Amino acid sequence: MITSRPSKRILLSYPHMSGDELKYIKEAFDSNWIAPLGPHVDAFEKETAEFAGVKSALALSSGSAALHLGLKLLGVGAGDVVFCSSLTFIASVAPAIYQNAVPVFIDSDEETWNMSPVALQKAFDDAVETGRIPKAVIVAELYGQCPDMDKIKSICDKYNVPILEDAAEALGSEWRGRKCGSLGEIGIYSYNGNKIITTSGGGMLLSDNEEYIKKARFWATQARDAAPWYEHTEIGYNYRMSNLLAAVGRGQMLHLKERIAQRRNVYSKYAEDMSEIPGVKLMPEADGCRSIQWLTAITLDPSTGKSFMDVINYMSGQNIECRPVWKPMHRQPVFDGCKYFAHGCESVSDKLFNTGICLPSASAMTEEEQGWVIMCLNESLKG
Ligand SMILES: Cc1ncc(COP(=O)(O)O)c(C=O)c1O
Repeated sequence: MITSRPSKRILLSYPHMSGDELKYIKEAFDSNWIAPLGPHVDAFEKETAEFAGVKSALALSSGSAALHLGLKLLGVGAGDVVFCSSLTFIASVAPAIYQNAVPVFIDSDEETWNMSPVALQKAFDDAVETGRIPKAVIVAELYGQCPDMDKIKSICDKYNVPILEDAAEALGSEWRGRKCGSLGEIGIYSYNGNKIITTSGGGMLLSDNEEYIKKARFWATQARDAAPWYEHTEIGYNYRMSNLLAAVGRGQMLHLKERIAQRRNVYSKYAEDMSEIPGVKLMPEADGCRSIQWLTAITLDPSTGKSFMDVINYMSGQNIECRPVWKPMHRQPVFDGCKYFAHGCESVSDKLFNTGICLPSASAMTEEEQGWVIMCLNESLKG
């Protein structure tokens, strides 16, 4: 048990290497496949598609690149409306801006902290009235949690609008037994350094529509036409993943199950030890969802007399990294003037931002470290 301030900072989420990555990297070196293509890229795509239960996948330089190509595939262009989760990281939305589209933000519900079907329906009612039906709905899966996909899908189907599922934080989570990333028309994963598995940076585009993946592959490799010379009829991007990073990803995939179990254990220990702390509630695991619990988040009741920043600052002084819950997109100065649809009279995402804290949740965090986090959290709420 740690009883005094540790010298090593306890970070929110960080890479967890197994050593198996090196075997694949060595193979890449030995075969001199040091390129943004290669056998590890092909295998990583195949293994990920199999894991997610989709027909096809495309390894890319980031989750953001995957979202960008996803929107292009759905035909999102200048002036088109895109409905987006408000309570998420800006990377969920920025690609809509790259396409000069117009984001409309949708609130969360209390049960899932994710897109509220009630708010989504309100946004569609308004879209019908104003004649501005969206081209796509970007549904983010916060901290590994699933939204109520049955309800969201049935609303989107009613208006024939496709879902782009941002499963950047939910690789391995399941909704009614199906993997997140496979639930929309198109899905994406991120392998950023803070995610459940990492390639240091990278992303994956997933779909059952093989034509989509074929087209995205073309765009991601500078839209090079089939010709003996460099011929271009479209503008593309340099968005492919390198063979070296795919090698890291394959090594990480071998341990994904273990990493999920470790993150879920971290969540369970928080749940167990914090049930006694008055005024503190954990982000719930929604009905129908088996979350990877990428990050464990809590909310503070006003009865604690503490603000989220009081606690975060106290924890920082104890060498523990905590972070506020994402500041909702409809509150970001860069999106001033964009439409927002709240769940009820009160905006749920605002409430979660104003009371929420993400706790250290790394799969490599030791029990002693977590014990220190919980003890300090208790202390931070005293006095
Ligand atoms: C919800 C969400 N969407 C998209 C991204 C973008 O992924 P990347 O950093 O790989 O571009 C991230 C994380 O970084 C994220 O958390």
